Amino acid sequence: MQGKKRMINNGGDMILFDENRKVFKIDTPDSSYIMGIVDGYLGHIYYGKRIEGSDMSYLLRTEEYPFYPSKCMGEKAGFLDFFPMEYPCGNIGDFRESCLDIENSSGQCGSELKYKSYNIFKGKKELEGLPATWGQDCETLEIVLYDEVLNLEVILSYSIFDGIDAIAKSVRIVNKGTQDLLIKKALSSSITMEQKKYKVLTLSGSWARERKQQYQQIGYGSVVNESKRGISSHQQHPFSAVVSENIDQCNGEVYGMHFVYSGNFISKVELDQFDNIRAVMGIHPDNFSWQLNENESFQTPEVVLVYSDKGLGHMTRTLHSLYRKHLIRSKWKDCQRPVLINNWEATYFDFDTDKILKIAKEASECGIEMFVLDDGWFGERNDCDRSLGDWVVNENKLSGGLDYLVKEINKLGMKFGIWFEPEMVSPDSNIYREHPEWALAIENREPTQARNQLVLDFSRPEVLDYVYNSISAVLKSANIEYIKWDMNRPLTDTGSSYLPKKQQGEIMHRHVLGLYSLQEKLIKEFPDLLIENCASGGARFDPGMLYYSPQIWCSDDTDAIERLSIQEGTQLLYPLSTIGAHVSASPNHIVGRNTSFDLRGCVALAGTFGYELDITKLADEEKQQICEQIKRYKKYSRLIQQGDYYRIASYYDNKEYDCLEIMDDSGKNGIINYTQVMAKANVHSRRIYLQGLDENAYYRIENKVYSGSALMFAGFLIQPIHGDFAAKIFEITKE
Ligand code: DGJ
Repeated sequence: MQGKKRMINNGGDMILFDENRKVFKIDTPDSSYIMGIVDGYLGHIYYGKRIEGSDMSYLLRTEEYPFYPSKCMGEKAGFLDFFPMEYPCGNIGDFRESCLDIENSSGQCGSELKYKSYNIFKGKKELEGLPATWGQDCETLEIVLYDEVLNLEVILSYSIFDGIDAIAKSVRIVNKGTQDLLIKKALSSSITMEQKKYKVLTLSGSWARERKQQYQQIGYGSVVNESKRGISSHQQHPFSAVVSENIDQCNGEVYGMHFVYSGNFISKVELDQFDNIRAVMGIHPDNFSWQLNENESFQTPEVVLVYSDKGLGHMTRTLHSLYRKHLIRSKWKDCQRPVLINNWEATYFDFDTDKILKIAKEASECGIEMFVLDDGWFGERNDCDRSLGDWVVNENKLSGGLDYLVKEINKLGMKFGIWFEPEMVSPDSNIYREHPEWALAIENREPTQARNQLVLDFSRPEVLDYVYNSISAVLKSANIEYIKWDMNRPLTDTGSSYLPKKQQGEIMHRHVLGLYSLQEKLIKEFPDLLIENCASGGARFDPGMLYYSPQIWCSDDTDAIERLSIQEGTQLLYPLSTIGAHVSASPNHIVGRNTSFDLRGCVALAGTFGYELDITKLADEEKQQICEQIKRYKKYSRLIQQGDYYRIASYYDNKEYDCLEIMDDSGKNGIINYTQVMAKANVHSRRIYLQGLDENAYYRIENKVYSGSALMFAGFLIQPIHGDFAAKIFEITKE
């Protein structure tokens, strides 16, 4: 490229601007993202496999009819409806999905953005009030677009990270004029590509059935993936990928888009009349608007883009390493997490100090390192009908209070953690009786309850103060080293008696901003606190929450067999060190399935390891197994936390067995975690194909030596195991 201005990272990733051709080029190790300016419009030229050198602006087809507006004003609509706009606006002629809808002070909607300037710099700015990727070893391109009629500045931001095939995109919108504007839609990213028999991969599910992989064909029109529940949700996940037809772990093209946000989202993949795909992602425009007065700005959350031409596995490992190095901040992120025991499935609401201490004592004898007291310790909470919001310990249950209980648990050599559900209030609570106006509600309408609870109005500063002070007081009352932050219902009745009429559309987003501000404050005041986010199981497992907590509860379904596919869907995007996984009782409380203690231990090993059962009811032999499982977890915990993850076989796909492989960063040591779901008669051994090994090296597995190429291309044989629901862990060691 000529006339270029460039910044180069150590890894060879770079951002360039070709002044002569007006082309921006962002290179990651294996991908290029290219944009060009034509007639003042910023067009998306290319995103895909890394390209060296050549001028790609011909792909904008500006020499073809209907030409660009200054050449052919009479066909401007034709141009706008065809041009691959980098950040498309609505209501002026581009009829595909827009990213930006702005209403002027007369209530008319429409905007047109033209290129103004750019800036390339080392590092990355924080996104005010929002979670986002961060780091020193990264660089950022900002492109400023301007709408002259609205006096609106739109700053597109693109950051890349040393050695990682990802681009983090976000948008800042600034009202530079004097009229009050209303943002009706502000998405974070749009990409364009030609349809080459691509399909869409999303993660869908339900309570206790989170993140199952789903492929949908792309036809003319749109494939939509969305949440309007106020949380990222069990049902859909803020991730979509446009993938080629031949996709598997090692082959095929992937355009992955992952939203760093924990509320409503939309992702649309639209195939247009000219066989081009526009894929957009951002805050859902339904039930959203934002008042933007003079000199105010609005920051969209970030979308992480990953392109891979080496299948899903490369996308997965790219996201794992981006999130480990550039998203999670907790001081716990690289530390071995304490093996915990949680009393939810052991006792539900039926506990007292004695019962808890009995469980803790036996747990400590087996080597469990932390006790987590779940729901039911406060107010008059003996079921899920009351007391959310009254964050005062129930001394009828916990005689001596928290301080006594925690001291006793600490004496056993264990840490102590506690459960909160800070965003909620029960109608039957002292705080609701005092402040009914603190719950979200629509005037003259009884708000809809879910799990007998209402949602607090986080646009009210006094609510945020009350919630924060309540949590902080509990944390200061005893030596509490962990909290489980739960959230058990979606948002409805999004009316606030605090906000003026013109700002009612801000409630859903303000809820998420309030949540983020509370967790940010907690982290600042209690930097050593280990936070585990949770939402009815895994309804808010998203990259936004990872910025605040290094681990998230994955699902309320703790059955090891159900967990295989739930964890597989989660591992597709998230490092194993973030995935809350516990050994629970058999038969399992949700599905009633009986499985062996060993299998449950092997499945939970592929996450943050813990227990969720009444240890006082276990046979001695099972308690002995806990000691051994903990030893094994400690042996492999660094590998599981930092290693490279390979998905070898999917029980969700094959309905018979599951297998994953983890190799450490030196490539020398690893494990294969294999589960045989159903036993079969009269079968020979199963052949599995390992990944990520050195073809020319030799590896030892169970006293036999194989070449890397043999293990990857010819396969490794696993003998049938006698009985259903059996698991086995193999060690791999490079010779
Ligand atoms: C939902 C969570 O996912 C469970 O683990 C448990 O904490 C309950 N809430 C408690 O109400």
